[in-house]
Amino acid sequence: MLDILPEPATRVWTIRAAEVEDAPRLVAYYEALANEPFNNTSVRQGYTSLEVADTQRMIAHHRDDPQSCILVAEVDEEIVGYVRCTGGSNPFNRHTADLSINVRVDFRGIGIGSALMSAALAWARAHETISRVQLTVLARNTGAIKLYERMGFEMEGRLRNAYRLPDEGDIFVDMMAMAYHC
Ligand SMILES: CC(C)(COP(=O)(O)OP(=O)(O)OC[C@H]1O[C@@H](n2cnc3c(N)ncnc32)[C@H](O)[C@@H]1OP(=O)(O)O)[C@@H](O)C(=O)NCCC(=O)NCCS
Repeated sequence: MLDILPEPATRVWTIRAAEVEDAPRLVAYYEALANEPFNNTSVRQGYTSLEVADTQRMIAHHRDDPQSCILVAEVDEEIVGYVRCTGGSNPFNRHTADLSINVRVDFRGIGIGSALMSAALAWARAHETISRVQLTVLARNTGAIKLYERMGFEMEGRLRNAYRLPDEGDIFVDMMAMAYHC
């Protein structure tokens, strides 16, 4: 009887800023995500760099640029999610940060995405110069949209046929533009 009961949700995670030394583990994370079919992100085999050196540079940039940050969620020393805010680089968009977020498939739905998003938005609110955090999301990704709305993002518009999915019959799909105002 006992062995048919679901495993209790006892997983404990830590959220912290990524360090350059995390690069190999972040690449392993990206690899799993890139191989996941229909993952609703642009992390795909043959497109996203899975090179440790590129990932080290990306982490260093997000660490050193005061307008940017990258946070990871860790469970048992494995990276199981990340959120990245990339600040604008010129006087016209330095008040904005582009956000992307992901959680490993076997850790979704237990609060890690919400925790990562809360931490990223707290980081943005603490920055006087950042007043807008923006993202785009596939219109079909209703689960993610629900999460973003719950965290305070507003829907700004629909970008028709903005995305192309070569590994899904090369269909064109709509994106939604959303923003959080600090
Ligand atoms: C979207 C995503 C980051 C949310 O992270 P998460 O850890 O699953 O989210 P949480 O557990 O904190 O919250 C779950 C909420 O997210 C939504 N959600 C979205 N995708 C989900 C999934 N695959 N499994 C469970 N919940 C999901 C649920 O609607 C839920 O909302 P509720 O709490 O109001 O019921 C994560 O599911 C993910 O990485 N999905 C695949 C990649 C992706 O879509 N990335 C975003 C691209 S813009």
